[in-house]
Amino acid sequence: MADQALVLGFETSCDETGIGLVRGHTLLADALATSMAEHERFGGVVPEIASRAHLEAMVPTVHRALADAGVTAADVDAVAVTSGPGLTGALLVGVAAAKAYALALDVPLYGVNHLAAHVAVDELQHGPLAEPSIALLVSGGHSSLLLVPDLARDVESLGRTVDDAAGEAFDKVARVLGLPFPGGPPIDRAAREGDAAAIAFPRGLTGPRDAPYDFSFSGLKTAVARWIEARERAGQPVPVADVAASFQEAVADVLTAKAVRACRDHGVDHLVLGGGVAANSRLRALAEERCAAAGIVLRVPSPKLCTDNGAMVAALGSRLVAAGVAPSSPDLGADSSLPIDVVSR
Ligand code: KG4
Ligand code: ZN
Repeated sequence: MADQALVLGFETSCDETGIGLVRGHTLLADALATSMAEHERFGGVVPEIASRAHLEAMVPTVHRALADAGVTAADVDAVAVTSGPGLTGALLVGVAAAKAYALALDVPLYGVNHLAAHVAVDELQHGPLAEPSIALLVSGGHSSLLLVPDLARDVESLGRTVDDAAGEAFDKVARVLGLPFPGGPPIDRAAREGDAAAIAFPRGLTGPRDAPYDFSFSGLKTAVARWIEARERAGQPVPVADVAASFQEAVADVLTAKAVRACRDHGVDHLVLGGGVAANSRLRALAEERCAAAGIVLRVPSPKLCTDNGAMVAALGSRLVAAGVAPSSPDLGADSSLPIDVVSR
């Protein structure tokens, strides 16, 4: 359907340079360059290294996306870019590049929220999102429960982490287990051989008087570290697979229980998962199980679209164009702490 706008999306909020091309809800290209290997020895993303890598990867990645989609820059009808939240320097590279393309191609520019884009990406696989939906957004920097009455204009925060993000907890626990960074995928793999009931790790903020939709993973992370220390002091081997499985179970249990509760409390029967941690196999399986039991329709993008990419930005841009939302002004900047309820700016 060539009557729908062709949207070019730019994602540079962390260590992935993502360039996506979307028409309507159709994904045409999703080109990705990552500086992950350059950060590995530091055990976390180094902002200056990420910014430099975005700069170097930008133009080749745009060209790759255009070639993959079989289009030229002149075919692009609108440009969308993550303007926050994220690392300021990294965001600025994407915003500057997107502005340059929008100006040169004389097309509108949309500065979008990275978190809303993690939700929008699901539309590329499962079509228009039911509205309202509840969204559980779990990434390396964020863990949030959202009420989404209108993805183009109205996204409301129900709760968020009070300390570490879920992905951050995976990364830190992987580090104490001697597994590589980022920690989510190796923990997911190690957990397959382990017993999820081996160790009863704490479930943060699940007491009757705790905020029902807020999360806390810092106590869990500390409990895992203490448990490992105690084993090492006693001269006993650390059962990596059991620790990984029991930790992963604690995270998946809390996330899915709170998401299902948010659906029930708000009378919403659609749940969508997004963000890098939504690639976790146990989280996906437990969400499936609990949603089926509660009569909730669950939507989860494929793992590749859960982690940061340019297609998610193009997907949200496409949604904004279709909804007739006003484009951003040419002086759009980066906002490292852009609030979740600002879908575009
Ligand atoms: O959404 P994302 O790619 O980047 C941010 O916006 O932060 O999320 C990255 C996070 C990392 O913390 C990584 O460990 C986690 O997602 N992650 C996973 C899995 N794959 C990536 N966590 C658990 N299980 C996975 N399979
Ligand atoms: Zn992300």
